Amino acid sequence: MSKQLEFVHVLKSIARNKQMKASLMNSKELSPLLLRAAQRFITGEKRNDGLLIAKQLIEKGYFISLEYIGENTTTLENSEQAKNEFLQLIEEMGAQSMKETVSFDLSHIGLNVDEETAYRHLIELVEKAQKYNMTLMVSMEEAARTDEILAIYKQIASQYENVGITIQAYLPRSIHDLNELLHYPGKIRLVKGAYQEPAHVTLSRSSELNHRYLQLAEQVIKAERSLSIATHDELLLAECEKQKFLQLPNVQTEMLYGIHPDLLKRLKSKGYQTSTYLIYGNDWYLYLCHRIAEYPENLYQAMIDLMNPSPIKECERY
Ligand code: FDA
Repeated sequence: MSKQLEFVHVLKSIARNKQMKASLMNSKELSPLLLRAAQRFITGEKRNDGLLIAKQLIEKGYFISLEYIGENTTTLENSEQAKNEFLQLIEEMGAQSMKETVSFDLSHIGLNVDEETAYRHLIELVEKAQKYNMTLMVSMEEAARTDEILAIYKQIASQYENVGITIQAYLPRSIHDLNELLHYPGKIRLVKGAYQEPAHVTLSRSSELNHRYLQLAEQVIKAERSLSIATHDELLLAECEKQKFLQLPNVQTEMLYGIHPDLLKRLKSKGYQTSTYLIYGNDWYLYLCHRIAEYPENLYQAMIDLMNPSPIKECERY
């Protein structure tokens, strides 16, 4: 195994290590330092931080998606708190006429409590979003959860049009899953996949994975469904452009806040629909680890940010 691959595995294990997370996040010295590095990728810890940057990006001509960051809530009380925060977020976006998208993990709003709780909370969010002409996007989590997430999504998507789902190209099953999902009206967000799964479960980053990604994108386009091409991969995006995917009215290119703003800006200047995925909240630790693990060079920037007390203004790069 190369040193880089080993580093990625170690970082992803650190990310999932609850004890390590608790000692870092509870440390009065370390936690504010890490927050500085996280601010490359998150808008801030408060709802208003997210809304403020969302507004600025909308004014610059981007679509946005907002997420109150978190996952794996294990108690009913915490899942209700998360659901209530999302309801409030939708309410405030609606009040500010942001007819945009709210994204979340089902495990944040109750999937770990039980499926019924997640379903009940999801209905509440979808109905609130519908009131304001907003879209909800369900994220995709570990492969062990795909069946549960798809089952809940299908139940909701057969009743409401304003909810979409994320599909991971690294899962071989996605071709089959997508065939079924295309019977529902919701938007499809296509990602490569972020989780550390056993090697036999996923395709690793490769030209084969990019080929699979293009196949899945074409499948959605042929079915005339809305598609988010959610990747920062310049070569893959160039291929999507060559195949005239980006030019289509129901196709958006979507990137995570803080990653390749230059590339997204360039695509926007060509007249393509571009969207930024914004995160806020205080449970950003795992998110930061994922962003470094998927691109280890980010560690250099993180170290620089740790030592730099001046505020990071990532938004200005868009
Ligand atoms: P890949 O990882 O192959 O990277 C290609 C190139 O992009 C790199 O060489 C580098 O230049 C750039 N790049 C990628 N990541 C970078 C980083 N962190 N920092 C700097 N440059 C970077 N995953 C999931 O499993 N479930 C989900 O629900 C979602 N949701 C989601 C929504 C949106 C809008 C996006 C953009 C992504 C997700 N993801 C996700 C994450 C996704 O699965 C994937 O891990 C990341 O997008 C990175 O993969 P890329 O497609 O960018 O390609």
